[in-house]
Amino acid sequence: MASPRLSFRNITALAPMVRVGTLPMRLLALDYGADVVYCEELIDLKMVQCQRVVNTVLQTVDFVAPDDRVMFRTCEREKDRVVFQMGTADPDRALAVARLVEKDVAAVDVNMGCPKEYSTKGGMGAALLSDPDKIEAILKKLVAGVSIPVTCKIRILPSLQETVDLVQRIERTGVAAVAVHGRFKEERPRHPVHCDYIQAVAQAVSVPVIANGGSLDLVKTNADVAEFKRASGASSVMLARAAMWNASVFSSQGPLPLEKVMEDYLKYAIRYDNNAFNTKYCLCQMLRDKVESPLGKQVQAAQTNTEISKAYGLQTFYQHTQEELQARRDTSQTSSQPERPVMDGDVTTMAIRREYPPQITPKMFLLEWSRKEKLEQPHYDTVERSQDRSFQSTVTVAEKKYRSSLWEKSKKFAEQASAIVCLRTLGIPEGRIGEEDSGLVSKRKREGKINGSAEEKRKKLHVASIPETVSSGVAVETNGDHHRAEQP
Ligand code: FNR
Repeated sequence: MASPRLSFRNITALAPMVRVGTLPMRLLALDYGADVVYCEELIDLKMVQCQRVVNTVLQTVDFVAPDDRVMFRTCEREKDRVVFQMGTADPDRALAVARLVEKDVAAVDVNMGCPKEYSTKGGMGAALLSDPDKIEAILKKLVAGVSIPVTCKIRILPSLQETVDLVQRIERTGVAAVAVHGRFKEERPRHPVHCDYIQAVAQAVSVPVIANGGSLDLVKTNADVAEFKRASGASSVMLARAAMWNASVFSSQGPLPLEKVMEDYLKYAIRYDNNAFNTKYCLCQMLRDKVESPLGKQVQAAQTNTEISKAYGLQTFYQHTQEELQARRDTSQTSSQPERPVMDGDVTTMAIRREYPPQITPKMFLLEWSRKEKLEQPHYDTVERSQDRSFQSTVTVAEKKYRSSLWEKSKKFAEQASAIVCLRTLGIPEGRIGEEDSGLVSKRKREGKINGSAEEKRKKLHVASIPETVSSGVAVETNGDHHRAEQP
């Protein structure tokens, strides 16, 4: 069933904010009572290169750049509430981006207010304000080309009349709402907002006008939202800094203590594997003048989400979440991938699940075997996937490459998995129970490393048998130092 079209009348929205408007902050704002949440501005040139990836582990939809960076992450919870904001100066590219995200968001917005050089020099952001023909072309193309509402966000122009004329022209393109940041493009966030401009615009058009710019002097708590609405004559209000400082500004129950807000935010950041530097940035914005406090210093020094969690006493939550995510990762991989060799280009791959004892490792077996065969030491090449911080390793042995098709949560596990693929493909023992002693690892080493409780633990592990398909799916020769693994 199609989602209901998002209405922009009589709403309170989280404003688009670079670095702040990522998934954890948007979900937090929704929890506290925001009706609509905007993502940070994302540039069309970057977005058009992205691929839409369903992330079954995080249960999100990710838009992933060719360099593996997740540019935009969203989820079902916000689907009917999130507005995707783009920076663009090109109607065709804008449409391509809007179509890419159309199924996963409630509306698309074009930023026409950013005064920063990186935006204006490409003709985007506030540069568009002096090119109304371009504005019209972009908005008309979007309105005609996508099935979801289209909005835009502007700053005010030097005179009231120019501002009203522009918004009336924008209204005729068929947009669903116009957000008006009541400052001139030369003005900085510390300058007072011009409510009279927003009011004049709101009176001149029938499309919903969303008032923005009141965080500094007008809106401190939810109770102030109504006053900002009244003063600006707009039907809706959009909050940026007030929400960034304390997202519970959206709550009609009154603002919550900052400690609670930071904790709620951090839980979302952990749950959705938010980039640690982004998490830090948002927490520092919330800490504001407390950023030099002992907690602030700990946050600033942290390099990972684990370290940030520690600063807030959320280690247990972090650990449980990681375990849950790993369980989902295992389930989704197990159900989708068979454990038999498949060629991927020149690499022999297999879906390897971790079932071996940590004491005698497949890497060690492979190393011993390579030495015995007088081969060069196995070479491991490991890559990290940024969308879920998992690892995949390719091991090269005698100029042949092997890797597990499953992604692991650590570099160490990824290397062990690739070693297993090599050992299984070549039919070399890997130290599992019931396997004939290969003689690869000296008796003393074996006994020294696996004894007592370690041996017990090892027995408890369910150890997989070598898949039958090793011989039927792949031709393998292991005579001396020549071996080959090809598809039949
Ligand atoms: C912004 N702003 C902004 N605007 C926009 O349209 N797209 C964006 O990506 C950003 N990024 C951004 C980042 C940060 C850290 C801040 C503080 C602001 C501007 C913002 O949406 C808003 O127009 C102004 O901050 C004025 O509103 P407030 O803060 O008075 O509610």
